[in-house]
Amino acid sequence: MKINFKKCKLCGNVIWTLNDKDIKCCNEDMIDLEANSVEASFEKHIPNYEINNNKMTISVNHVMEEKHYIMWIMMVSDSLVYFKKFNPLDEAKVTFDYNGPCTIYSYCNLHELWSINVD
Ligand SMILES: [Fe+2]
Repeated sequence: MKINFKKCKLCGNVIWTLNDKDIKCCNEDMIDLEANSVEASFEKHIPNYEINNNKMTISVNHVMEEKHYIMWIMMVSDSLVYFKKFNPLDEAKVTFDYNGPCTIYSYCNLHELWSINVD
């Protein structure tokens, strides 16, 4: 399924939505987030994945420090959304059920949204 990510330029709140309507936060229109568009290391932000027995293990090769970390990983298939939130000292790794083609997203607190498509 196609989802859209939006960020509030004032408070930093990030949301996802199934539509592309203008949504306000802090009384301002939220800005659209484009994955893989921030100037930063691709290898350190793009989700890596392995599929085994209908399970998909996803990890991000990124530091997990108080000031710089992967905040969440999300997997979006045709009809399902899986979401895992992380704290700074966690390992950026999670296993979800694998249901076929999907898009995996990761979100860095400094370098925003990254994604990879899985066939
Ligand atoms: Fe980062």
